[in-house]
Amino acid sequence: MSDPKPVRRITTADIARMYEAGQRFATITAYDYPTARIVDEAGIPLILVGDTVGMVMLGYDTTVRVTVEEMLHHTRAVSRGAKHALVVGDMPFLSYGVSIDESVENAGRFLSEAYAQAIKLEGGVRSARTIEAIVSSGIPVVGHIGLTPQAVNQLGGFRVQGRSRESARKLIADALAVQEAGAFAVVLELVPAELARAITERLSIPTIGIGSGPHTSGEIQVITDIVGLTQGHTPRHARRFGEVGAALAAAVRAYQEAVLSGDFPAESESSSMAPEVLDEVLGRSELDRAGSPLTIPLDRDL
Ligand code: KIV
Repeated sequence: MSDPKPVRRITTADIARMYEAGQRFATITAYDYPTARIVDEAGIPLILVGDTVGMVMLGYDTTVRVTVEEMLHHTRAVSRGAKHALVVGDMPFLSYGVSIDESVENAGRFLSEAYAQAIKLEGGVRSARTIEAIVSSGIPVVGHIGLTPQAVNQLGGFRVQGRSRESARKLIADALAVQEAGAFAVVLELVPAELARAITERLSIPTIGIGSGPHTSGEIQVITDIVGLTQGHTPRHARRFGEVGAALAAAVRAYQEAVLSGDFPAESESSSMAPEVLDEVLGRSELDRAGSPLTIPLDRDL
């Protein structure tokens, strides 16, 4: 039998080819090894290890609290699970934008220490110089404009961006600045569908929408929102495609009931040993053993 074909990693060039062919693509976040494997095996071409990990996995009230070390830890786990998808690590608050040197150094850590193939950072015009420097260092970048959650304290909440003339013009300028700086794709978060379409038509790199209507080049969602695992509020744009949280809760309850009733673990889920060995260890005779409740028939090799 011949060896299975080695899995080839999706590259930014593949994403560009899909875009040029007009092929819409689905991307999603992942934060751990088993989820990354499932997402990868489903054929999702790009996985974002988003700083949303802070809110949906670590229980923080905002993504602003997430550290570089936490992001590297989760990105490493996803990189180990995803053999095919392009893994993008999300740069957390103030790990970029303070100084160019620090931004490039931190971006590099996602590739050298966490095995990602690209990074994402927030901001349009304000982040253009940083994007340019990171791209010049050989690190592919995904931009992120519209609602940029790390700036939520400035934006006044998690609300749709670009509804007014002024903010719509600003968003178009942001998108062009990110493209000009060398990003290979840009996330549009909570942008009105019409504006997202206009931006997509004006760019020559793919737009990846979230809460921005159906006319972007691709879509991204936070995995816990769409599989029914987010606790509390889920955004209006996140359709539930599954009820993983309910399935998990039911499985945990069933396990607990089985333990309490004595149904679990069963004999087939236990191991056994040669009775004469136990007799010797316990210093008892075969006769004593006859009444012992510990006797388990040796019916399989363990
Ligand atoms: O951190 C994240 O998950 C994101 C997506 C919402 C795009 O930035």
